[in-house]
Amino acid sequence: MTPERKPEIEILKSHEAMCHRAASLFDTIAKESMGERGQFFVALAGGTTPAGLYIRLHAPPYELDLEWNKTQIFFTDERCVGPEDSASNFRMAHEALLQRVYMKPEKYVHRIKGELGPDKAAEDYEAELKKIFGRGTPCFDLVLLGIGSDGHTASLFPGTQAVTETGRNVVGVPEHEIKRVSITLPVINNARNIMFMATGTAKAEVIAEVLEEGNPKSLPAGLVSPREGRLIWLLDTRAASGFTPED
Ligand code: 6PG
Repeated sequence: MTPERKPEIEILKSHEAMCHRAASLFDTIAKESMGERGQFFVALAGGTTPAGLYIRLHAPPYELDLEWNKTQIFFTDERCVGPEDSASNFRMAHEALLQRVYMKPEKYVHRIKGELGPDKAAEDYEAELKKIFGRGTPCFDLVLLGIGSDGHTASLFPGTQAVTETGRNVVGVPEHEIKRVSITLPVINNARNIMFMATGTAKAEVIAEVLEEGNPKSLPAGLVSPREGRLIWLLDTRAASGFTPED
């Protein structure tokens, strides 16, 4: 059993600095992936925090830098709403990034069709992933994640069956008040690179619980532990205010 790789924790002085650092790491990982395999498969996070990263990816210095025609865009999770709904993770990413970069959406953007409802949307996305990755567990070059104050990540909420699912790559999450669809932990942990982004004091307590050495790994975000890949946590000082990272 290979020893668990320690997470790379970076604490930035502000939300803005955290987003800039995230864009720089995104660019580096994308270039590495394209150099090694001629393509870059990334699963975008939802919520609000990643928007600050996405808007930087189509502005200098990255705007011409990233080869979007070698990039395939996926999503870690979606709410069971249509793509135009204000709650849609796709809509957030589309407005912040996808509508501004040149890529053939129908070919390179793999939206989770939340409007089909949790089970149908999960089946549909499972089939979409199989089309691209073949059988078995998809391996993304980069999975972007956020964390909720309850310790959820993607749409893997504490106490839901989705957290313990190991037989499927995508599951519906009917238990949540806004029904959702999510990729599962085996998919997340099979990624070459996983990058969490979190800012603000509201996350400080849960981040301390997840990141402090020795705590039981019980929360969904704490179960993110890549098999062989890199685990990066980008925090601003407020989100990191609950713990002192190991030297
Ligand atoms: C979602 C995300 C979710 C998000 C966290 C943090 O659909 O909301 O998948 O896991 O990353 O809830 O959200 P914020 O970035 O808005 O704090």
